[in-house]
Amino acid sequence: MSFTALQSLDVAGKRVLLRCDLNVPIKEGVIRDDGRIRASIPTIKYLLESGASVVIMAHLGRPKGERNPDLTLAPVAHRLGDLLEMPVQFSSEIVGAEVDARKSSLLPRQILLLENIRYEAAETSKDHDERTAFAKQLANGMDLFVSDGFGAVHRKHASVYDIAKQIPHAAGFLVAAEIEVLKKLTDNVDRPYGVVLGGAKVSDKIGVIKNLLSKVDVLAIGGGMLFTFLAAQGHEIGKSLVELDLVEDVKELIKEAKILGVELLLPTDIVVAPLFSADATPTLVDADAIPADQLGLDIGPVTAAAFGAAIEKCHTVFWNGPMGVFEFPNFANGTKVVAESLTKVSGISVVGGGDSAAAVRALGFKDDQFGYISTGGGASLEYLEGKQLPGIEVLENA
Ligand code: 3PG
Repeated sequence: MSFTALQSLDVAGKRVLLRCDLNVPIKEGVIRDDGRIRASIPTIKYLLESGASVVIMAHLGRPKGERNPDLTLAPVAHRLGDLLEMPVQFSSEIVGAEVDARKSSLLPRQILLLENIRYEAAETSKDHDERTAFAKQLANGMDLFVSDGFGAVHRKHASVYDIAKQIPHAAGFLVAAEIEVLKKLTDNVDRPYGVVLGGAKVSDKIGVIKNLLSKVDVLAIGGGMLFTFLAAQGHEIGKSLVELDLVEDVKELIKEAKILGVELLLPTDIVVAPLFSADATPTLVDADAIPADQLGLDIGPVTAAAFGAAIEKCHTVFWNGPMGVFEFPNFANGTKVVAESLTKVSGISVVGGGDSAAAVRALGFKDDQFGYISTGGGASLEYLEGKQLPGIEVLENA
């Protein structure tokens, strides 16, 4: 796999169309975690300092082709300006005569952020011709395309994929760095290799679990999806989250792990509560004794310690998905213990995904305590699953 390196392009005096992943959590107009904006800065700064005019395309949430004011990128433009310590122009139009005029009047070292690209239905269209026509409009007046929105490279969207077919292109520093790290999790891995998966749904992770079973030494399962594993073990799970249609698949995974000699770590104790609420009274129970009127909201301390000990022995660790409802302090311990143990890994530790990254920051950890914090949740999981990522494939040199 090889891309054109950004440094090999002469960008001085050029108009560069840059795709970033600026999909950050925003509540009541306030950005809750700006990790993805910060991660986009090195490429933006490099382009500006090299004398390019920069037009940024990015998405926020899933507005499905509609102008949803809750999903405007305006607060992101402000934050970007603060971080760059310079004005960032903002265009509420994405394509058309008005925005074309703004693009062409942009001077070197100036920057323009386009409104949420997913306000345009063509961005995410399944119709190749519709996406291509939109990509052509985006490319109007632009000389080069730089792809740096790693979190979206698994999407076959116009601003990620089709645009690269319109104008000369290169991978930005973030995309290059992410791929380099992910390669360390797939090629010549330094063993033992441990993966910790959490999050709500097994259905989101079943593909990656299947693919990883033949590659990892340790696999630990927490988060909402653990209850489907407990159900597969024949345990009562009370009112906990479960995907009953996947119980048979999970039974197969458990068998497969045994055959392959993978140390599959499943919870032995669970923190339960009568309802999903920050104020709900937590009770610790054995994983095979969840009361019928309770739901599990975190892994228990014995489980967390076992996961932590197994992680610390590994030389390569990938973690995606919180272990419990970390937003509620009574149910944050499992996620905290796992995060803490990742900080002690002597080899490479990777926290994968916007949500997991936001979780560790919300729990008070600093980015530099981990080997690498990936900005891509779905993208990094699909990479580990062995899938082709359209936004990467399209950048590859033949
Ligand atoms: C993410 O949040 O993982 C990326 O920004 C991609 O967003 P999407 O899942 O809505 O395509």
